[in-house]
This record gives sequence, structure tokens and C-alpha cells, in this order.
Amino acid sequence: DKVVLAYSGGLDTTAIIPWLKETYDYDVICACIDVGQESELEGLDERAKYSGASKLYILDVVDELCDEYIMPTVQADAVYENKYLLGTSFARPLIAKKLVEVARKEGAVAICHGATGKGNDQLRFELSIKALAPDIKVIAVWRQPEWKLDSRDAEIAYCQAHGINLPFDAAHSYSRDRNIWHISHEGLELENPANEPNYDDLLVLGVTPEKAPDEDEYLTLDFEKGIPTAINGTKMKVSDIIRELNRLGGKHGIGIIDIVENRVVGMKSRGVYETPGGTILMEAHKQLEELTLDRETLAYKKLVATKFADLVYEGKWFCPLRESLQAFVEKTQETVTGQVKMRLYKGNIIKAGTTSPYSLYSESLASFTTGELYDHKDATGFINLFGLSMKVRAMMNEKNKNN
Ligand code: ARG
Ligand code: SIN
Repeated sequence: DKVVLAYSGGLDTTAIIPWLKETYDYDVICACIDVGQESELEGLDERAKYSGASKLYILDVVDELCDEYIMPTVQADAVYENKYLLGTSFARPLIAKKLVEVARKEGAVAICHGATGKGNDQLRFELSIKALAPDIKVIAVWRQPEWKLDSRDAEIAYCQAHGINLPFDAAHSYSRDRNIWHISHEGLELENPANEPNYDDLLVLGVTPEKAPDEDEYLTLDFEKGIPTAINGTKMKVSDIIRELNRLGGKHGIGIIDIVENRVVGMKSRGVYETPGGTILMEAHKQLEELTLDRETLAYKKLVATKFADLVYEGKWFCPLRESLQAFVEKTQETVTGQVKMRLYKGNIIKAGTTSPYSLYSESLASFTTGELYDHKDATGFINLFGLSMKVRAMMNEKNKNN
């Protein structure tokens, strides 16, 4: 029988290859889903084959991630627990979808992943597989009783005993997850929230604000229906815009987030995220919505954003509620078209002007000079009715005080 292994090229998933063969006699098909993890992909093919995989798929899904997963989340303004821009969360369902496609193509009976039993990632992989291929068996290595490799040293020794000599580092490092949107860091000194992060060792995509240039930098983003279409006047596809925003944001110390978050499995966990481009993109998108969405839609959309973020975080991407919320969000984006100008400076995104053909902002209405559209005297009746219930309650209180 064949099993499809979610392969990253790291020590964990490399040790899983001989383990799957030895423990279950599976034919191991490795699938590495390229979501923009960059350097982590080097030498992957040889590594997988050398470790005993019968086949390796490398699938570039970066554009699909940007267009079908990242953009709906940006349009929703979805952020988990006010801070986390969901970089790992929305990549997992897409990875799961691709694993299922490979499993179907290969006629595999099972999909195997290396996420731990303590985290969110196991949920995201497995809920997605349930939703897309209910018949496929899932092997969560870390939860299998046969899995005894509970340290990096043990994994290296196991690989060597199976003739696999690869230059893996025994030293512990951060638990990281990278894609085009972000990189996450967990573990080491971060495990104690009393510790300040060792930013010099930690950061991969950029610098801290004090190391950013003393010169600010202007940036314009064009949007059409809530989707970025150009950066500094140059039309680009979304993935290229995100890459360029990552470069600019990283340079200016933007988008470093340090959070103690609530995992779905019940524990708090501390992480540092770098989302330089995403932070700029989401801020720009919000600025445009400020101008183009009416008060009630904006307020309702905020509720939707919270729910959307929770669903994505919990691994319920492929659920009817996420699809329905997305349909609502898409409707709201019809007029989120225009240009946002910003100034990047030492970790800050400073507004430098927003324009839209659909702007609901009326200068003549808002200005203090009297215009045609608004008669100050109309406010009298409005305030009387708007405040009527408060007045009635006060009168009632007054009456009871005298009793
Ligand atoms: N805590 C974040 C989340 O739940 C990041 C998880 C990172 N995953 C990893 N395998 N390092 O989305
Ligand atoms: C893991 O446990 O595999 C990483 C952390 C997480 O899934 O939240």
C-alpha cells in the first residue's frame, strides 16, 4: 500500500520515511508543497530518495495560496486574537488539499503528517482531509504508539541506523514555519513569556525598528475590489506584490508580532511572527475600507472578521460557514477600489493619503461651513428621537426617587 507523506525536508519528516516503511511496510510517496518556504527547499529531491521514498512530488502552490486563501482572509480583515495574521493557519488546508490530490493520483490509502499532538497544525491537516477525502486514513506520527523518536538525537540515530547520513544539526533551534506570507517562531527562550525574544538570532525576514533605515520610504498600493493590483504604479500579480511588500516591510522593521496565543487544544503558547508584507497589505486594505464602506457594513464586517479568523485558526477552512462568510465579504469588496499611499518608517506604517472613485467621504458634508445637503437644524429632531428612550428612563428614575 502507498502512503503520501507531507514532506518538508527537515529531520522530522526525513526520519518518518524509513519509519513508515519499517513499521507499516508502506510504499512512501513524499509530497513537498511549496508555499513559499524558499531556502528550505534546497536539496530536497535527493534527500527524499536517499531516505527511501519511492517518489517525490514538489508542487508549487504559491499563487493558489495567495489568490484563494490569503486574499479572502485579507478581504475579511481576519486576524486571530487581535494580532496573529494566520500565516500558518491558512496554508495548512491548501497543503492538505494537495496531499489529497497526490493520494488520489497515486491510489494511496493513507496520508501521513509530522505535526505534534500538542498543536493546531494536526487539526488543520486532519479536518481538511476529513472534509475532502473522508475515506483516507490519517497517520499522525507523533500520536502513534510505535513512534519512539522523541528527540532530535534519537531521530538522527534512527536515520543513521537505517543508512541515512545527512548533515542534520542535533542542536535545538526554534520551531519555525515559513511561507510567502510569514515566518513563525516558537520554542527556546520564547517558551517563557517573561523572556524578551533574542531578535538577533530569531529574525529571518527583516530587522527590528531600531536597525531600520533612518530615512522613511513612500509606497502606494492600488486595489481593485479589495485585491491589490499594483505597487508604486507597477502592475503585478498578488504573489509578487506580497514578495515586494515583504522586502520593504522587512527593511523598515514592520510586522514583528510577539504574542501569547490560545491554541485550540487548550494551552497558551508564545510565538513571534514576522509578517512584514502582510502587515502593510492588511493595513492598506483597512484604510481603503475606511473610506468606502458605510458605518453599518463596516461594523458588521468586524464581527465576521473575528469569526472568520477563528474558523481559519481552528482548521475549519473547508466548512460551509467559512464559505458563506467569504461570500458576504466578497459582496462588501465591490467598491473597495482605489489607491493607498503610505510612509514606512522604523516599524510604523504612516498614512499618506487615500483615494477612491467609490469614496463615501464628502468634504462638503464634513466641513464646518454650511452646505446644501445638510441643515444643522435637522439635528434637533433627530437628537430628540435618538435620545427619547434615555429621557424616558431618566423620568422614570426621577419618579421612583420621590416615592
Ligand atoms: N501557532 C501558530 C499557529 O497555530 C504557528 C504554528 C507553527 N507551526 C509549526 N509547525 N511550527 O498557526
Ligand atoms: C506542531 O505542534 O506541530 C506545531 C505547533 C502547532 O501546530 O500549533
